[in-house]
Amino acid sequence: MSRVGFIGLGLMGKPMSKRILQHGHELVVYNRSRAPIEELVMLGAKAAESPKEVAERSDFIILMLPDSPDVEKIVLGPNGIIEGVRKGIIVIDMSTISPFQEIKIAEILRQKEAYYLDAPVSGSTPAAEAGTLTIMVGGPREAFEKSLPILQCMGKNIHYMGNSGAGQFTKLCNQIAVSLNLLGVCEALLLASKAGLDPLKVIEVVGSGAGASWQLTNLGPKIVIKDFTPGFKAEHLKKDLRILSEVSEQLGVPLFGTMTVYQLVKSLVENGLGKCGTQSLITILEQLSKHRVTAHS
Ligand SMILES: NC(=O)c1ccc[n+]([C@@H]2O[C@H](COP(=O)([O-])OP(=O)(O)OC[C@H]3O[C@@H](n4cnc5c(N)ncnc54)[C@H](OP(=O)(O)O)[C@@H]3O)[C@@H](O)[C@H]2O)c1
Repeated sequence: MSRVGFIGLGLMGKPMSKRILQHGHELVVYNRSRAPIEELVMLGAKAAESPKEVAERSDFIILMLPDSPDVEKIVLGPNGIIEGVRKGIIVIDMSTISPFQEIKIAEILRQKEAYYLDAPVSGSTPAAEAGTLTIMVGGPREAFEKSLPILQCMGKNIHYMGNSGAGQFTKLCNQIAVSLNLLGVCEALLLASKAGLDPLKVIEVVGSGAGASWQLTNLGPKIVIKDFTPGFKAEHLKKDLRILSEVSEQLGVPLFGTMTVYQLVKSLVENGLGKCGTQSLITILEQLSKHRVTAHS
């Protein structure tokens, strides 16, 4: 059994860290707000007062934070992980952040003889609870192999993708497919509703053919009944699309469709729905079309 540290106990981090405990590992946790720490302590975890302390008390440290500046602050900031690392410790960033940031942090930790992996995930909160996440990993292969027993507590499909940054680049490819698919689902349901069809029946029929997708099956019904409870927050999709806009610029890859979704998601967040699930994107299309998607009674 290993000593594992976990930083960032939000929608994803909380169920992921619980799975580490359930597999019998020693767990030390740290988070910005206190409530999720107390919840994990009740289940047997120990609380740390800083990322530095998490590093001092762990052999593996998992991060599940919102964005690049958050990861930078936790790893390199005052009282950060870097102040508590020692030779051979493995830091695994499972947040979705910029691949260029990951490459930079990995190099700084390498100089301290510590390993750093970027290991973002796909699959939302249900997959985090069930331990069936897809995990895409970049960084030193020996660190990946040593981390497998920890990653296997949280994920089912775990893939080594290459050097530092490769995990995040893979995740960005995933986010292109996710965001365009989400827009497609919203447009299909809007058209279905405006044409007088039952949108729930359309989800069933399209979902049994070539138009089937995770977004359609999981978010389609929520779009129809207007359940905007977050699995994946709109503000985080906006962040991913911002990273994609930067990467598109740096690599010289045109992302026409993805940048269209970026503009729509920016409007969504400006409308105050950033903490809602990404399925709330339907509200922007409803405003533009002056039509509200509803279920047939
Ligand atoms: N949700 C999904 O379906 C999903 C799926 C795949 C990947 N992701 C990615 O996974 C990451 C986390 O997503 P999430 O949905 O779990 O986000 P979330 O619910 O917003 O949780 C983020 C957590 O990080 C904590 N945090 C933020 N800044 C911190 C700091 N400086 N120090 C310590 N803790 C800090 C927050 O603390 P507070 O309690 O104070 O807010 C919160 O507990 C994001 O990069 C997201 O894009 C999410």
